[in-house]
Amino acid sequence: MKSKVLGFLKRADNYVSGEEISKRLGVSRTAVWKHIRSLKEDGYKIESQPNRGYSLKQSPNLMLPTEIKPYLETRFLGFDIIYQARVTSTNIIARELAEKGASSGTLVLAEEQAGGKGRLGRVWASPPGGIWLSFIVKPEVSPFQAPLFTLLTAAALGEVLKDNGFKVGIKWPNDILCEGKKVVGILTEVRAEIERLNYLVIGVGINANISSIDLPQELREQAATLQDILGIPINRPAFVAAFLKKWEELYFLSLEEGFAETLNIWRRNNITLGRELTIKIGGKEIRGKAIDIDEKGALIILKKDGTKESFLAGEVTLSK
Ligand code: BTN
Repeated sequence: MKSKVLGFLKRADNYVSGEEISKRLGVSRTAVWKHIRSLKEDGYKIESQPNRGYSLKQSPNLMLPTEIKPYLETRFLGFDIIYQARVTSTNIIARELAEKGASSGTLVLAEEQAGGKGRLGRVWASPPGGIWLSFIVKPEVSPFQAPLFTLLTAAALGEVLKDNGFKVGIKWPNDILCEGKKVVGILTEVRAEIERLNYLVIGVGINANISSIDLPQELREQAATLQDILGIPINRPAFVAAFLKKWEELYFLSLEEGFAETLNIWRRNNITLGRELTIKIGGKEIRGKAIDIDEKGALIILKKDGTKESFLAGEVTLSK
């Protein structure tokens, strides 16, 4: 309802009366007033005049549900949005919610993470201005298919970044690079039994409206931000909604027809296949040439001795 009240204010050229909003939404004027007060608490600048009603003067530049919902065109993703300005990690919150039975599609968003989690136990720097989100999904698939959802996420993000004018390259399995530097990281966490996947938490970190100087010094060599590449900030709520829409499209396609098309999109956007690389896994380092990904999303490497080996996990370093 709060989003609907905000919708009236956003569509109005100037003032809109409390009476009109209450009539059109079928709620009391007191209810309208309470939503206006709550919007003001969220940071919306709303002027009230006794005989004219309410006028929206400024919206906060935040990832509030009320900013994202107007753009949302999904069938289930983002129907429930949990927003907190500062969190430890959106993945941790999403996991806690999933354990308590939160529904598939629940989305967790934050402005800033104090303990952002990266892959392989690393820390993920998450200052304000970025897009830090996690969502819960509960596909009826085997746990062995979990890695495919990470590739699906990278494929969806690659497409949306391209739609926004960025030249992207996916480094297997899930780093997205622009101009040779990492701008997006994906952390998929799984809760499963041997035969059944209970839920996935897909965590996405995008260095969006951050200046590179706000990233830790040691990351500036390898990481970039969308704002620095574009020269202007992106519309974060619109970007998130576009990503969720693309993600959902590939999700239903993959569940209904298999992952072949999703993997083709991943292949089209990747910068790994055809390259010489080193993959580190379990204390071992293997060198070779990446030749393809298989139907499970595993990376197939042609080694110097002419044999092939496939990897479902590992840390890839591309040779120059
Ligand atoms: C990587 O190491 O490349 C993965 C980084 C994933 C970071 C995102 S930010 C939102 C979500 N919450 C977390 O704590 N991590 C993921």
